[in-house]
Parts: sequence; structure tokens; C-alpha cells
Amino acid sequence: MMSGFEQSTALITGASSGIGKALAYALADRGLDIVITARSAERLSAIKEELEGRVNVSMIVCDLAAADGVEHLMKTLTMSETQVDMLVNCAGLAPHVDFLSTEDPDQKDLIALNVTAPTRLIRHFLPEMRARGFGRVLNVCSVAAFHPVPSMAQYGATKAYLLSLTEALSEELKGTGVTFCALCPGVTKTESAIREIVEALPDAMVLSPEAVAEAGLNALDSGEVVCIPGRLNQAAVTAAQLQPRWLVRTLGGLVAKFRTEPSSTVNRSRD
Ligand SMILES: NC(=O)c1ccc[n+]([C@@H]2O[C@H](COP(=O)([O-])OP(=O)(O)OC[C@H]3O[C@@H](n4cnc5c(N)ncnc54)[C@H](OP(=O)(O)O)[C@@H]3O)[C@@H](O)[C@H]2O)c1
Repeated sequence: MMSGFEQSTALITGASSGIGKALAYALADRGLDIVITARSAERLSAIKEELEGRVNVSMIVCDLAAADGVEHLMKTLTMSETQVDMLVNCAGLAPHVDFLSTEDPDQKDLIALNVTAPTRLIRHFLPEMRARGFGRVLNVCSVAAFHPVPSMAQYGATKAYLLSLTEALSEELKGTGVTFCALCPGVTKTESAIREIVEALPDAMVLSPEAVAEAGLNALDSGEVVCIPGRLNQAAVTAAQLQPRWLVRTLGGLVAKFRTEPSSTVNRSRD
């Protein structure tokens, strides 16, 4: 597994919980040194404590939606002379909010985290990876990247951007030794998932973060550019792609109308 990656280093954003945390553990299991980053120092420390010794673990506390967040992360890595062989862009926000009812009309945090941060990190590490003839980029998108998502319109748009960017760059960088994978999970049992949606879906459509992480790393390993974990999720995306766009967005609009309020996402405090 991860052939050629032994003694390499992976940078994982959003590593303090959910899919990013599962990716951190899975990469450590594969023997990669890891740099984990998120806002929660306490959670990162707990992961570092658990994995340190098996591999080298560094943690960088960083708010990637803040104006200087990405800069801080890049500078810290440059100062410690850390060579990043694998970039995992996992940090993401999924606000369940109507376009017109949001209090932040620019959706600054959403765009900073889901669009600007991964774009800048890829742009930062890509020249070095290409020069070395070796690099991997795993971008955590979503099945929401494949179709419009009424009631989460901006979220769907950010994930469509990241999927498109990933696919385009994978072609542009073909033959350079740098490969890309867009990991597009369906609903995954994490703190961000809306409980009503998790409960309404058949078990086979709701994966664990560990299963999603494993699928993503296997896909990256075998050179797949787009990975949709779970057969039912794959079938749902394929079926939607075979329908006319008007039908897909109309069905999405109907689902949004009947969806319960997101009252029961799991809230937690930040340290
Ligand atoms: N769960 C799903 O159903 C699902 C489905 C499809 C795609 N995804 C995607 O999967 C990715 C991970 O989501 P998840 O479900 O695993 O959610 P999660 O458990 O809430 O994890 C989100 C991660 O992002 C970090 N983060 C949030 N805001 C940040 C900020 N401003 N700066 C730096 N880090 C920040 C969080 O850490 P801190 O809070 O410590 O900063 C956490 O580590 C996201 O990109 C999401 O869109 C999730």
C-alpha cells in the first residue's frame, strides 16, 4: 500500500475529527509521517499523543478560514523544513443554510475554507512536488459536487469547484509523478452530519469516516481520480448523471422542501 511513500510526510487539514482524523490514522498505519492541522489544539494533541512513536507526528493549530491562516500554515512548514509529499485537503464546512437567510452574504468562511485554502495549499506545494517528480493530492469533495444542492447551494458549489479543480489538475500534471484524487463521500457519520439525514438513509448509504478514509487512500494508491465510497452512493451518483439536469435539480428542490430543520447537528465547543 502507498507504494513509494514509506518515510514520506502527509499534511492533513481538518485532522482533528471525522474523515480527516480517520485519514490521519490510516496514513500513520501505512507508515507515513503526518502533519495534522485544525483549530482544536486539544483534539490534535490527543491524536499526536496516540500516534507518536509509531510515526513522527507534528501538529499545527491553525484557522484556515482566518485571513492569515493558510499563510501561517505554509510559513510554519517552511520554517521547520518539512517536505510535504502528500497533501490532504479535508477541512470543510457544510452549513445547512438557505442562500437568502444567511447572515454572512459573502459566505466568507465557507469560501475561505472549502475553496481558497485547498487552492492555495495545492498551488504552494505543487511546484515542489513536480520538481521532485513525486506527490499526491487528496481533496475531500462530496457527492454534492455532482449536482446542485438546494438549501445548501453554496456548499454544493464549493465542492463542485474542488472536484473540477482536481480533475483538471490531474490531467495537467499527467506524467509528472504528481497524482490527484477527489474523494467524494456521501453522508458520513461525523459530527458535521445532520442526524435526521443519517437516520433517514439506509445503513448502506451512511459510511463510517474510517471506511471513507480507506476508500480514498486505496483510490489514491491505484491512481483513481474520482472516488465515491460505497456502492449505493456510486449508484446514486451514476443514476443522477443519466437523468436530465432539470429532473435532478427538481428532485433536489423537493427533498430540500421536506427536509427537517438541522436542529440536531452535534455542537461542540472549541478550545
Ligand atoms: N460528514 C459528511 O457527511 C460529509 C459528506 C461529504 C463530504 N464531507 C466533507 O468531509 C470533510 C470533513 O468533514 P467531516 O464530516 O469529517 O466533519 P468534521 O468531523 O466536522 O471535521 C471537520 C474538520 O475541519 C476542521 N475545521 C473546521 N473549520 C476549520 C477552520 N476554520 N480552520 C481549520 N480547520 C477547520 C475541523 O477541526 P476544528 O474544528 O478543530 O478546526 C475538523 O477537523 C469536509 O470537507 C466535508 O465537507 C463530509
